[in-house]
Amino acid sequence: MKHNINNMKRILSFLTVLFISVTMWADEGMWLPALISQRIVDMQAKGFRLTAEDIYNVNEASLKDAVVLFNRGCTGELISDKGLLLTNHHCGYGQIQRHSSVEHDYLKDGFWAMTMEEELPNDKLTVDFLVRMDDVTAKALRGYKEGMSEAQRDSVVKANSKQLIAEATKEGKGLRAQVEALYYGNQYFIFVFRTFTDVRLVGAPPSSIGKFGGDTDNWMWPRHTGDFSLFRIYADKDNNPAPYSKDNVPYRPKKYFKVSAKGVKEGDFTFVYGFPGSTREYITSDAVHYNAEISNPHKIKLRTHRLDAQRKYMSKDQAVRIQYSAKNASVSNAWKKWQGEMKGIRKMNTVEVKREYEKRFREWAKGTEYEGVLERLEALYAELEPYSFANDYYRESVLVIELPAFARRVQRALEKGDDPQSTIDNFYKDYYLPIDKECFVSLVKEFEANIPDEFKPEYFKNSMKQYSTAEAWADDMYANSAFVDAKSLEAGIALVSIAGGNVAEAMNEDPAVRFYAELADFYNNKVFPKYTSLNKEITLLYRDYMRGQMEFDKEKAFYPDANLTLRVAYGKIAGYSPSDAIYFTPSSSIEGIMQKDNPEIFDYNIPQELRDIYASKDYGEWANDKGTIPVCFIATNHTSGGNSGSPVIDADGNLIGLNFDRVWEGTMSDVVFDPDVCRNISLDVRFVLFTIDKLAKNHRLLEEMEIIR
Ligand code: ARG
Ligand code: ASP
Repeated sequence: MKHNINNMKRILSFLTVLFISVTMWADEGMWLPALISQRIVDMQAKGFRLTAEDIYNVNEASLKDAVVLFNRGCTGELISDKGLLLTNHHCGYGQIQRHSSVEHDYLKDGFWAMTMEEELPNDKLTVDFLVRMDDVTAKALRGYKEGMSEAQRDSVVKANSKQLIAEATKEGKGLRAQVEALYYGNQYFIFVFRTFTDVRLVGAPPSSIGKFGGDTDNWMWPRHTGDFSLFRIYADKDNNPAPYSKDNVPYRPKKYFKVSAKGVKEGDFTFVYGFPGSTREYITSDAVHYNAEISNPHKIKLRTHRLDAQRKYMSKDQAVRIQYSAKNASVSNAWKKWQGEMKGIRKMNTVEVKREYEKRFREWAKGTEYEGVLERLEALYAELEPYSFANDYYRESVLVIELPAFARRVQRALEKGDDPQSTIDNFYKDYYLPIDKECFVSLVKEFEANIPDEFKPEYFKNSMKQYSTAEAWADDMYANSAFVDAKSLEAGIALVSIAGGNVAEAMNEDPAVRFYAELADFYNNKVFPKYTSLNKEITLLYRDYMRGQMEFDKEKAFYPDANLTLRVAYGKIAGYSPSDAIYFTPSSSIEGIMQKDNPEIFDYNIPQELRDIYASKDYGEWANDKGTIPVCFIATNHTSGGNSGSPVIDADGNLIGLNFDRVWEGTMSDVVFDPDVCRNISLDVRFVLFTIDKLAKNHRLLEEMEIIR
């Protein structure tokens, strides 16, 4: 007996070692919090000291109650019992910009509400708390029978979802719900949210801190961007969601993060809790090939034209720089990411690796229900490719030329009887015609050169014949459209109205409206229906292929692709080697800000106060053991777009950082994760505390936080 027990113990400890060594390498993955008990042993083996219930619990307060979907595209977290919310500067950028004017340029100078009364309300800003998430696969498929067509299955799922959503949202204020397909419809989950809409701006550092390094440093390590802003959620006096009102009071959250000022070091456990938007980890080699080798290079080229035009005029004129700052940042963001993604996919040899995998899958699938799935996918992708290309091209060229899109929007509004005034005001506020005209010329040229004739409307072909050059076409359109500036638009509208004409109808003749309408009609009627139906078929096949992969590869821990639902990613603080003979350490500090500081270069011109603080070393209690102020750190957490603003949490559940980016060499992680180089970039929370204390001198905010010193 004794002998047996000892044997058992040996086997058990062997198994533990095996288990740990098998799972230790895998920092890949974004896991569903409701199923985190399946990963908790691994998390704990890596250093986490809390339980699955601490992460997600519907009966008691858990960490999930301190995490929010911010503005339906970013993540944020609660850091006080008075509804104080931390997110990125680039996530609050639109709000900060909207409150800015020449007199109060909060983008440039920063904004700090010194009292609650000074906190600024925001139109249309939402914050969603996840109330719960449940596997509703069986319920979503209730009534589905073997042999039903896909269309029938679809309507079964739709009808059931509608009912599930109605049930889930019938009690309680501000509830909304959605049923989401996971693993391409092999599983369905309902997500119930509580939405707050009175969310006020509390503070933001100047852009020279919050966007330090601009697009030059974006997607890069080493990084020194203080990418944070602060908001506050307000509720009615019963702590329920309510539209903005002077009488609303700070929301009292079920849970908020304690902030750890104790510091981080290489190897420390990290856990990112947030809303990654979209990944495609299980697609076929053909899909990867199309993205990396066809679509990305073309889209990058098209965006290069736009960035060139923007930069040319932004560098000449301060007003234009402000007008185009947000537009430029968003064009540049994906432009730069795609380049890193392409490189990473090539370096990982992903197309070949997937081909090899697919070969083995095909062998295995013989005689099973999965036989032929990959062949059908291959055939569909071949059929889809020209449509995908046309679609991608259209989106990155025709749709992004500002004047025609705006003209058509105004015309449409008038047609429907809506008041277009706010559209008009918003447009001209940030419009600079010479940039747009240059974009028109280069994008039309590329469209002409790269799009096959069958995907060009007659209108386009005729116009190219008529004008013979894109320049001549542009000269005509940008001289004769009524939409080129507010005055001529107003005059044009007045003229038609006085003559008793129909303004919307008259606008159909405008060259900018015509351009947009002709191309959009052609694409909507001749290209998208086929594109959409092929994609639908492909998605359906992925349901089988996904299930097949899970049966084929039993060793692998599968996680559902990101779809802007709450996920857990865990890993550790770690440096990496971007290329031969270089090793990046995982933490940056204010020393690096000072090394990059350059009053001559807009994106590196830090506020004078920061220089003064650096000179006097007035760091208060926020310095690290080297006597300097930490700024950013990198870790192995698997994150994606949407994870910006996510809390980075230590082994005890305390806040140590704020996720905001990934490193250049690892941007392919939406398609393939390389544990050697995929790193998420976070702002060290000590830099946040330091900025609030020393730069903003906003001590009321520090007082309401629970800081672990
Ligand atoms: N790359 C980060 C993300 O994808 C930050 C983007 C904002 N910053 C910028 N310089 N464009 O959202
Ligand atoms: N910067 C991204 C965001 O805004 C995060 C990422 O793609 O890593 O969500």
